[in-house]
Amino acid sequence: MAPASREILVTNALPYANGPIHVGHLVGYIQADIWVRFQRARGHKVHYVCADDAHGTPIMLAAEQAGQAPEDFIRGVQAEHEADFAAFGVAFDHYHSTHSEENRALATRIYTALRDAGLIETRTIEQAFDPEKQMFLPDRYVRGTCPRCGAEDQYGDNCESCGATYTPEELKHPRSAVSGATPEWKPSEHYFFRLADMQQAIVDWMDAPDTHIQPAVRAKLGEWMREALRAWDISRDAPYFGFEIPDAPGKYFYVWLDAPIGYFASLKALCAQRGDDFERFIAAGSDVEMWHFIGKDIVNFHGLFWPAMLQGAGMRTPTALNVNGYLTVNGAKMSKSRGTFIRAATWRAHVNPELLRYYFAAKLANGVEDLDLNLEDFVARINSDLVGKYVNIAARCAGFIHKRFDGRLADTVHDPALLDSLRAEADAIAAAYEARNYASAVRQIMALADAVNESIQDIAPWKLAKQEGQEALLHGACTTFLNAFRILSLYLSPILPDLTARALQFLQDEAAQWDALSRTLTHHPIAPYAPLLTRVDTQTMTAMTDDARSDLEAKTDAPETRGAPQADTIDIKDFTKVDLRVARIVRAESVEGADKLLRLTLDVGILGERQVLAGIKAAYAPEDLEGRLTVIVANLAPRKMRFGTSEGMVAAASFGDGKPFLLSPDSGAEPGMRLA
Ligand code: MSP
Ligand code: ZN
Repeated sequence: MAPASREILVTNALPYANGPIHVGHLVGYIQADIWVRFQRARGHKVHYVCADDAHGTPIMLAAEQAGQAPEDFIRGVQAEHEADFAAFGVAFDHYHSTHSEENRALATRIYTALRDAGLIETRTIEQAFDPEKQMFLPDRYVRGTCPRCGAEDQYGDNCESCGATYTPEELKHPRSAVSGATPEWKPSEHYFFRLADMQQAIVDWMDAPDTHIQPAVRAKLGEWMREALRAWDISRDAPYFGFEIPDAPGKYFYVWLDAPIGYFASLKALCAQRGDDFERFIAAGSDVEMWHFIGKDIVNFHGLFWPAMLQGAGMRTPTALNVNGYLTVNGAKMSKSRGTFIRAATWRAHVNPELLRYYFAAKLANGVEDLDLNLEDFVARINSDLVGKYVNIAARCAGFIHKRFDGRLADTVHDPALLDSLRAEADAIAAAYEARNYASAVRQIMALADAVNESIQDIAPWKLAKQEGQEALLHGACTTFLNAFRILSLYLSPILPDLTARALQFLQDEAAQWDALSRTLTHHPIAPYAPLLTRVDTQTMTAMTDDARSDLEAKTDAPETRGAPQADTIDIKDFTKVDLRVARIVRAESVEGADKLLRLTLDVGILGERQVLAGIKAAYAPEDLEGRLTVIVANLAPRKMRFGTSEGMVAAASFGDGKPFLLSPDSGAEPGMRLA
């Protein structure tokens, strides 16, 4: 029975705009995207939004380090984030920024409502102040010696050595992590949200029968609720990158106040594009569901502060929180030196991104436990499940349809019972998806793939093909198995949108919708079979982790090359992996604080514009470069360097540290031309 049609707003946690997306982040984004695709395949209406979380001290300081205005800095990071999400099939309907006019207006509106409801109070607090930088320091930016165990260089709020927690004032020999100066303690007036006044409202929301919260998360929230909630400090002093509080000049909203409001800002921008009514989504009692997918470290913000803000402002509350655990790689916390701090960009430069979706799905039940990405297990799993079981079905049967039956499926299937047994699991598989228990869905689907492969083994089409008078059976059998393949493709489509779309194209069938399960393709032409997926190997994974390790070492200085012997021989395939392009230098600028670097803005024709940091300042004045053509490596994964991100590499020749010579093509060449 088809469930009544639902309308659902789905959000993912907004990634901070000061670092690249890594495989750990991807757990939550992939989890949500699978759920969105599943709901759509079931015919429900889903609005899926996200944004960059652009405010706060770390981003302000990172922009400064990169020598950029924060607005420019966050724009660059956002573009990288969006490219990563797209590559992993995470398809938001809209991707916004918390540093947007929509968000400013909504944050102001919600704050004002809270203030008018008497939920905001002010209080003067003492805070560490950096006299050199002339700024108040968040606790994390005060470092010093642990007052309990004497460990040096500890954060201002806790000791990583003995686990003690304390205030920055208790630290011995405190200094500012920003300037190194000894901090002073200065009073400042802060704005607080009186959470205790909203405590009952939070409980009512949590306990409402239609609020979905995982048991472990509910237990944690319950623990926090046992005591009266302390007022939450929502203001920060200038200089701060954020929104100024309307009635308090020089005071800014703390990043976490406007961050969740960013969900609404993104939706509002989407509604404006579509001419949809935004208010109906946020009004108290809205009948649109609102599901937040978040990681386990930000439960307090989404389970306490956000529902309190919403209710305090007279708005709707979240329908559900879906919390994911933390990702470890090869059994340990992601580590730069082990090469397991893998960025999304590094992964996709080496391995098909969709395969990570499958691996995560196979491991994600609906709990909040941490999960492990074991790279050896990844290889085994992909090869055994996807190549060996799923794709294998098509690979074993498609050829006969083309060689013997003119590319057309038979008029009847020989084993309708096999197809019925696959369809019989539809409800159970749907229930697993609905409950975000993808591990269970994958188990069920792979058990069905096993059954189909057994049946293929029993019938052995390759034997029938050699026997006289077995044409009809061969045709009917392959038709059955390709229909089985179609059903499995529909089941897998939320997890593997690209692979299954290619599978359905091969079957010349429509996009995956759940209600298409009942159909059987007979007397139907199919396209010639091209391999849908090839095996992954461990060397590929090693190359990726090597690359992840070298990301961290990425330096701008050229290696010593004078007298260096010829590098190892490569074959033509290796060479063609390098995308060398003609580019025009449209802008060249020096980089504050960097004596060797120039920041180049390059026009690469159809590939668009790139920002590259090049160690050529010693040899070229910026103004001499503008307008000139050069050659760049266009598919080098973006590298984050101390002074910003470099999206490629310009080709320059030198002897080691010697003067660099920029390569350029003969005149007449155009930006975007590829070297071959
Ligand atoms: N900006 C905040 C969220 C604001 S939501 C209104 C933030 N950003 S983040 O970039 O640090 O994290 C983005 C998401 O990735 C969060 O849900 C976080 O829990 C998740 N993860 C970050 N590292 C992770 C792992 N190693 N493993 C799994 N999820 C991880 O928090
Ligand atoms: Zn200590």
